[in-house]
Amino acid sequence: MSFDVQAIRAQFPILERRVNGRPLVYLDSAASAQKPAVVMEAMTAASRTAYANVHRGLHTLANETTDAYEAARESVRRFIGAASASEIVFTKGATEGINLVAASLGGTFAPGDEVVLTEMEHHANIVPWHFLRASRGVVLRFAPVLDDGRLDLAGLAALIGPRTRMVAVSHMSNVLGTINPVAEIVALAHAAGAAVLIDGCQAVVHLDIDVQALDADFYVFSGHKLYGPTGIGVLYGKAERLAAMAPWQGGGEMIDTVTLDEITFADPPHRFEAGTPAILEAIGLGAAIAWLEGLDRAAIQAHEHALYARARERLAGANWFTELGTAPGKGAIMAFNVEGAHAHDVAQLLDRYGVAVRAGTHCAEPLMRRFGVSSSARASFALYNTVEEADMFVDALTKTRTFFS
Ligand SMILES: Cc1ncc(COP(=O)(O)O)c(C=O)c1O
Repeated sequence: MSFDVQAIRAQFPILERRVNGRPLVYLDSAASAQKPAVVMEAMTAASRTAYANVHRGLHTLANETTDAYEAARESVRRFIGAASASEIVFTKGATEGINLVAASLGGTFAPGDEVVLTEMEHHANIVPWHFLRASRGVVLRFAPVLDDGRLDLAGLAALIGPRTRMVAVSHMSNVLGTINPVAEIVALAHAAGAAVLIDGCQAVVHLDIDVQALDADFYVFSGHKLYGPTGIGVLYGKAERLAAMAPWQGGGEMIDTVTLDEITFADPPHRFEAGTPAILEAIGLGAAIAWLEGLDRAAIQAHEHALYARARERLAGANWFTELGTAPGKGAIMAFNVEGAHAHDVAQLLDRYGVAVRAGTHCAEPLMRRFGVSSSARASFALYNTVEEADMFVDALTKTRTFFS
């Protein structure tokens, strides 16, 4: 397997677009990545030839669609190294997966029980736990982040104690790019008898994930960052964890039997998939995973890192540029501020040059506060970006700087 960025780009129709008269330079893949044609085609082909509701019918189309939906679950299982496909719950996205665990497992927590998070979490891994604090009286503790964007591991360890029921941390920060030592965190949490949820939204795109090796209790991610569609995500949960958890939403397909007086529930994963699921989106995610599995992921990671390093090197002498997060071994995400300019203005000016970056709080307000900024711009590099694009980004950014100085 070799990695040829032009051959990759040719598979992404949207990259042919021009924006404001310039070639599109898409550096917002950490928010939503673009989709290769094979993903769109898999969804269209299913719509055209084998589409019906799943798990409900005995007719041919229902059976074929159910098979395709369950094959997507098996693809996810293989991709993250889970022991069984029944440990893979399809959700709307990472956000829904975390809400599910907070509502279901969290619903068994007692007042005074503790949930340990970090200052670098996305709101998706903060707000559901706030809900639990309001409903159950649990105590939230936040592990500090060091100045270079690393997690303060000793600080996190100090927060884990006999009342800790859950440690929920991101595998890779969507702002800092920091890759957290999640296996060590799992070991610390398990030694205290706490469960661990890993928010793998960013990490699953760039790293090989083996949930069994990590020994994580839960691992969540979203399809749309993994070159798949929106509206689909994954909650991996260890079989014994899921088996012990109550459903969080009621409806069709999650029951075993229903009488007017009593309900018994289906086994996982169906217990947690009430109602008609995102069938085509699951098929699309399966196609995205199959596509990624055909590529050399180590080469992709090296490529993405080279793009980041190129931009970073060219900006090294710029005294008007500040990067948030410079942890060793960080992923190819660059959150930054330009002196004298609001991040929104930077993003809008870059857009004039066809360069798409994100700007704002990146759904990580506590982290922005930690670094004393109200917002930042963010360029994220993906497998389809090129060295020329990294240069176009730096050139455009340098021009926007002259606008503000
Ligand atoms: C680290 C992280 N966690 C959670 C999320 C939430 O993902 P979604 O909105 O797809 O549920 C994101 C998305 O930006 C993210 O980057």
